[in-house]
This record gives sequence, structure tokens and C-alpha cells, in this order.
Amino acid sequence: MKSATTTKYHDIKPTRILFVCLGNICRSPTADGILHHLVELEGLQDIITIDSAGTYGGHAGELPDSRMRQHARKRGYELTHHSRRVISADFNRFDLLIAMDDHNFQDLTYLAPTIEGQKKIRRMTDFCSTMKTDHVPDPYYEGAAGFELVLDILEDACNGILKGIKEGRI
Ligand code: 4NP
Repeated sequence: MKSATTTKYHDIKPTRILFVCLGNICRSPTADGILHHLVELEGLQDIITIDSAGTYGGHAGELPDSRMRQHARKRGYELTHHSRRVISADFNRFDLLIAMDDHNFQDLTYLAPTIEGQKKIRRMTDFCSTMKTDHVPDPYYEGAAGFELVLDILEDACNGILKGIKEGRI
């Protein structure tokens, strides 16, 4: 029998999340894949909507970087997102736009069509509880350790996001 404190699905506010990085081939599609995985494990896929996009459109249509996919696969995440550029309409389509670093945050701030839109922008690392960092470092010109660090930070933050949604804090 479920305890009285068990979260009921109808108590969870439908939440639409867009993860944003520069190219949408490393960090944000990985955040997208990790949160999808966690949400599906809990059967919350009809309540929590997840997508990702980049502030730079030069990789539009591409699958995530092969190095990122390889590192993610070792942890059980299949990354199948196709890169796209963030557009101003995303500020209406999503409740939260979560930036990986200060550059992404600044670019989103410029793109937001309204003050209400600007208020939807967050930093990914604000959802971390164990990883002590103020940004998710761009792994594109880094080695294997850079991709593993990205995964460590994103797993921590995605767990924080899901917990926050379930507890009604997000
Ligand atoms: P992401 O990484 O922003 O995490 O997807 C990058 C991907 C591509 C480039 C830079 C960062 N690039 O310069 O093409």
C-alpha cells in the first residue's frame, strides 16, 4: 500500500523544459537524454515535456557528437536528438529554458521576446546538489575526461530538476 506521503501523479504540475547550449550536439542533448531516461523510469513522460536546442545553428539536423554519444551510452543513455537552433517561440512553448553556461544564459536573455520570457531562463548548475560548479564546461575541444565531467554534472542537475518538479518547487 502506498504511504500518505507518496507523490501522486495528478499532484505534479505539467512542466515543459528546454535545455540550451551552444551547438546542441554535446551538453543540452545529453541533459535531454538523461532527464528523459529519469522521467520514463518514473512514468512521468506524459507530464514532463523535454527538448533541447542550441544558440548556434551550425550543427542543425545533426545527431549529438559521436564522442558524447559514446560516453553517454556507457552510462545507459541513447542520445537520438537532432540539433536545432533555439527560436523566440520557444519562450512560449516551454516553462523553463535551462542554460548550460553564462554565454548561453546571456544569448537566451537577448533572444527572449518579453520580460516574462526572460524570467523562464535558469542555469543548469543551480539544480546540482553534489557537483560544485557554476557552469557545464563545453567539452567540444576536450578529451574523454571533459565528456565524463559533463555527464557527472548533468546527472546531478537532472536529478535535482526531477526532485524539484515532484516536490512542486519548479
Ligand atoms: P555544445 O558543444 O554547445 O555542448 O553542443 C559544442 C558543439 C559545437 C561547437 C561548440 C560547442 N562548435 O564550435 O561547433
